[in-house]
Amino acid sequence: MRPARISAGLAAILGLTAMAMPALALRLPPVTHPATLKECSGCHMVFPPQMLPARSWTALMGDLANHFNESAALPPDVQADIVGYLTANAADAPANKAIRGLLSGVKATDVPLRITEMPWWKRSHGEVSPGRYALPQIKTASNCIACHRDGAKGVFTEN
Ligand code: HEC
Ligand code: HEC
Repeated sequence: MRPARISAGLAAILGLTAMAMPALALRLPPVTHPATLKECSGCHMVFPPQMLPARSWTALMGDLANHFNESAALPPDVQADIVGYLTANAADAPANKAIRGLLSGVKATDVPLRITEMPWWKRSHGEVSPGRYALPQIKTASNCIACHRDGAKGVFTEN
């Protein structure tokens, strides 16, 4: 049973057009940066840099020894290479400001450390009942690829 899918299906049956529905797809360029792919995909999918502002990546990467109760510590040169890539491609990088809505609702002083704390993420997942994240095959909202099969390629559509 996939409640959010059913409601999207129901909306279609009711004749709501794509314009009346929130956009339910986001396609971002896949991560190709070698060090990021290598070091940031072992415990979860590699997250797209566009999903957080640069200051968030700087904060996360500045404390990898205390990374959500795990140690993801890296040698300084590798850490610097990755933070350079993530911040250059962050939500607030000039080329990405056109990507709709990713920064809306985020104050300049906010430093969100999770994508799942971002206002755009919460809006997009408003129809997902919180209990669904606890399902054994999902475990946590951070497990994007449990629901978005091609998430590691930057593709977040209805599967
Ligand atoms: C040793 C395992 C491990 C490695 C390696 C690792 N992470 Fe994580 N990461 C975690 C855990 C555990 C969480 C929290 C997941 C949860 O709450 O369910 C997390 C969460 C995150 C989140 C927040 C996800 C959300 O909930 O929105 C981001 C962003 C993140 N990691 C970035 C990175 C980056 C960038 C790297 C590479 C430098 C990296 N991680 C490497 C274990 C790891
Ligand atoms: C329990 C399943 C589940 C998990 C886990 C999940 N999502 Fe989603 N996501 C959905 C559903 C349901 C939607 C609504 C659209 C749809 O039906 O696909 C959605 C929508 C989206 C959208 C489209 C938003 C839009 O407005 O176009 C993006 C992007 C997205 N999710 C990213 C993520 C990311 C990143 C993660 C992990 C940090 C994640 N999701 C985790 C189920 C999930």
